[in-house]
Amino acid sequence: MAVLRIDRIRAAAARELKGATTSAELEAVRVKYLGRQGEITQLLRSLASLPAAERPEVGRQANELKAEIEAAVSERLVAARAEERRRQLEAARLDLTLPGRRPPLGTLHPLTQVNDEIVAIFMRLGFSVAEGPEVESDYNNFEALNIPRDHPARDMQDTFYLSEDTLLRTHTSPAQIRTMKAQRPPVRIICPGKVYRRDAPDVTHSPMFHQVEGLAVDRTISMGDLKGTLELFAREMFGERSRIRFRPSFFPFTEPSAEVDVLCFNCGGTGCRFCAQSGWLEILGCGMVHPQVLRNVGYDPEEVTGWAFGMGVERIAMLKYGVDDIRLFFENDLRFLEQFA
Ligand code: DAH
Repeated sequence: MAVLRIDRIRAAAARELKGATTSAELEAVRVKYLGRQGEITQLLRSLASLPAAERPEVGRQANELKAEIEAAVSERLVAARAEERRRQLEAARLDLTLPGRRPPLGTLHPLTQVNDEIVAIFMRLGFSVAEGPEVESDYNNFEALNIPRDHPARDMQDTFYLSEDTLLRTHTSPAQIRTMKAQRPPVRIICPGKVYRRDAPDVTHSPMFHQVEGLAVDRTISMGDLKGTLELFAREMFGERSRIRFRPSFFPFTEPSAEVDVLCFNCGGTGCRFCAQSGWLEILGCGMVHPQVLRNVGYDPEEVTGWAFGMGVERIAMLKYGVDDIRLFFENDLRFLEQFA
């Protein structure tokens, strides 16, 4: 009886195993026969109720079938799992040859580009970079530069004062004072940086802008060195055909003082709207360092001479690229900035 039942189970299990192809189906077959409520499990559990004579033979055959089904299921499971994994990989296939998505690259701000260009030109001439703080003493910003107490630049109208004797530097010239106080001649430095003035923003004014200061002090420094240096600078910055001229001017910290113009690159000197019909565009202020400034930092004006200049980075950038409103540099409109990629 029981032996017949085993044959029947074997035949049924064989049929079901044949029909099971996925790992889930195979697992279902295993549970049906070998699980806790499985047919073979139940058969083995009921051995005790069989007549004693049948028990050993039925037990042996049931265990044999149990082993057969276990072996068959696990063998088929290996193949089924492999097939399932293959399908899964196939479905999630990545095309590794597709080009990636490029993240948009940012570019340097046009003022940074022009600033770096100015700095690079002077570095090639042997100048080193000396940076000073934006919060300065009244002494370094004005007094040591020979700017008298009653000078209009000192007015609260023009300068951001932080206290009685500290302020936001109004120019990069205090870097001259700091450098000369800290080192003996020869000195050859440029100082790029931000400066602040209490100006209402308009096409040519911004309360914060950038300057580059230059300073050379040595035993035999002359105005001729200054001219040669600035001529070279103009050619590098504005092109081989660029010309400059010196115009007498006044600054408290230089004597003599001059303003430097470049030949208008729009009209080539004949006069146009760009250069207000003059044929020339002003780019910087300069001069021979005033003897009093040299004395203020402990240099002997009988022994050394020097020249200095200061230029506005925005102004140079506006001239170089034909930008007609300084505020464009600070609005960060991508349509403007992307043109300097
Ligand atoms: N500090 C001046 C300004 O902000 C620019 C300047 C002029 C700097 C002449 C100099 C110089 O070093 O010699 O307008």
